[in-house]
Amino acid sequence: MADKISVFVLSNNQKLKEIVSLYLQEDVDFEFVADTLEHSDLYNEVTSLPYSVLLADLNEESRFEQINQIATDCPSCKIVAVKDFPDVKFIVNAIRAGAKDILAYPLIKSDFTGTLARLKSEFTTPKNNQKCRIISVFSNKGGIGKTCIATNLAYELAQNTKDKVALVDLNFQTGDITTFMGLQPTYDISYIFENMKTLDKDLLESLMTKYKETSLYVLSNPPSFEQGAEVSVKTLEKFFNSLKENFSYIIVDMDSGFNQKTTYTMSISNLVLLPTIVSLPALRNCRRCLEMFKKLGFGDKKVQILINRFMENDEVSADDVVEFLEKQIYAKLPNNYFAIMGAINKGVLLSEISPNSNLAQSFKELAIHVADSVFTNKMIIKLDESKLRYHNTMEK
Ligand SMILES: Nc1ncnc2c1ncn2[C@@H]1O[C@H](COP(=O)(O)OP(=O)(O)O)[C@@H](O)[C@H]1O
Ligand SMILES: [Mg+2]
Repeated sequence: MADKISVFVLSNNQKLKEIVSLYLQEDVDFEFVADTLEHSDLYNEVTSLPYSVLLADLNEESRFEQINQIATDCPSCKIVAVKDFPDVKFIVNAIRAGAKDILAYPLIKSDFTGTLARLKSEFTTPKNNQKCRIISVFSNKGGIGKTCIATNLAYELAQNTKDKVALVDLNFQTGDITTFMGLQPTYDISYIFENMKTLDKDLLESLMTKYKETSLYVLSNPPSFEQGAEVSVKTLEKFFNSLKENFSYIIVDMDSGFNQKTTYTMSISNLVLLPTIVSLPALRNCRRCLEMFKKLGFGDKKVQILINRFMENDEVSADDVVEFLEKQIYAKLPNNYFAIMGAINKGVLLSEISPNSNLAQSFKELAIHVADSVFTNKMIIKLDESKLRYHNTMEK
């Protein structure tokens, strides 16, 4: 094992963190990660690592749910529950929630190192490249470019990584992925939600529409309004869990607005792309979304800003946008109405008809950037005004 295994501590107890840090100071296999992470950041962090250990202080009941989510979604993270005086009932509940081991607080060094040694032996080959990432494209404004971005991003991801990509239209009322891609699917998402009980990953894939000779599979919105009116979190959870087993990337296009469906989907996403155009109302709106994401506990890395329809000589510059939103820009997509409408009207994706257009190139770069950042989660973005490009400057 080349790299050290990261050990995270989920606790408000400073003493616990200090003692873990002290015990691991000279450890050759494990290293303490000093950051205090919000749940969503922690989730993103552990799902992006091939192996990790999470010491979860379960004196707080609310953490059971958090560790359960991590244990379900991320088997490469081994969870150790920590509690003052753990009793049998606690141990049973902690194991059910996904803990691999239990330690009493205050930690005794020999118990702690013994547990880590056992966990180390459970880590085998890195699982990083087998995992699936969910990327949702959201705005609470319509007409901002969500569907253009979701469809072209999904296509470019499939073409450039050759991994299997699922494109899901969760916009039940005004979803138009099928129009953008010229598809006439036999099944739509409402059929899947209605037949959830019998659904497994292979059946799910067989009900999706493969896009031409690519590794992109599409799941369209229902043809009529009432069919997809309601969907519970439980249904969505099962649906995404099945999808995750067969795909490397899931791209979700959504309706505009915060509701149970969009909020839940974004909460389980590894990356939320928030497109905006450079106009004052859109930017104000974008800022409100960022505030909402903060309230929802989404970490800074999870939500990323895309400037769509960017124009080099616009009155408002990219720097102004950064200043206004107090956030770096993840990527910029140039304004090219002629090119994108040419593709939409033919029901094809942009690089199928205008591969050399600046917008098609930017979608390709965006896909590479997304693949890079969701699987390493270590990105520093620098704006490069002259080239309309991002730079991923961190080594992997
Ligand atoms: N980069 C772009 N350059 C020019 N026009 C664009 C661009 N992106 C989107 N558009 C235009 O905006 C319209 C709305 O895009 P769409 O993806 O349907 O938005 P949303 O899904 O957010 O409602 C498209 O029909 C297209 O005309
Ligand atoms: Mg749309």
